[in-house]
Amino acid sequence: MDIVMLHPSHIPHVQTCNITNLPENYFAKYYLYHALTWPQLSYVAIDLSKPPRSKHDPPKIVGYVLAKMEEEPVDGVPHGHITSLSVMRTHRRLGLAEKLMRQSQKAMVETFGAKYVSLHVRVSNKAALRLYKDTLQFEVEKVESKYYADGEDAFSMKQDLGFIWDKVKADDDALKIDDKKVEGEGAGDEDEGDPVGDEGQEDKKKKEVMRKVKIGRALGVSDLVEKVEQPKAAS
Ligand SMILES: CC(C)(COP(=O)(O)OP(=O)(O)OC[C@H]1O[C@@H](n2cnc3c(N)ncnc32)[C@H](O)[C@@H]1OP(=O)(O)O)[C@@H](O)C(=O)NCCC(=O)NCCS
Repeated sequence: MDIVMLHPSHIPHVQTCNITNLPENYFAKYYLYHALTWPQLSYVAIDLSKPPRSKHDPPKIVGYVLAKMEEEPVDGVPHGHITSLSVMRTHRRLGLAEKLMRQSQKAMVETFGAKYVSLHVRVSNKAALRLYKDTLQFEVEKVESKYYADGEDAFSMKQDLGFIWDKVKADDDALKIDDKKVEGEGAGDEDEGDPVGDEGQEDKKKKEVMRKVKIGRALGVSDLVEKVEQPKAAS
């Protein structure tokens, strides 16, 4: 089983999964809007147990989470929202929904700085309620009367994402300590000058291999913006 980011080519298969499992269905363009606006937040579960017969075979999508950032949060707090989640009956109780949800929540924090995530669930949906309340630790915020088209009430639920922020910070701190160690390893070698010739090339390669770089969550958005590098003045 593979969990990958929702790609526009997955949308028809995600729609099939959605229509099979839920009465709340959406136009393809709504999925596309999610995939293009917040590409890091929506994921699909692909069953890889049967190899495709040809390269034209569609991926076997057995679950998805469709998520977004709230565009105009009334409370002014940046937060994510789960638009839809479902797993095919044949693939339930394998932990797929939990994995899809956790992947999306992590990206909400790391990519968009979300403080919490919200969702709606039918008051009668026992399986989903167990998943949200017991497994993922969501809390019921309020009951929204007749939220669904058929008149059923919804629980409006919320989960604080502070625990992910703590983990991101711990990872960043660990990275900083690693950086210091790498810098410290070179201490004391300064008086020799850089080796030249073949030896110099070898040494240069080694240094390149050793250099730690920050990727993904360790980078702020500003680090990811392409910059026009000014050539350094010759010294
Ligand atoms: C709700 C749903 C997404 C769960 O998907 P899933 O992949 O089977 O869930 P997971 O395997 O990740 O389950 C994680 C935990 O959720 C709870 N859970 C999931 N399905 C459950 C069920 N039928 N009954 C009771 N608890 C259930 C369990 O605590 C489970 O942990 P466990 O298997 O170790 O006991 C799936 O049942 C589904 O697609 N339902 C129809 C669509 C739907 O209701 N979507 C939610 C709309 S808000």
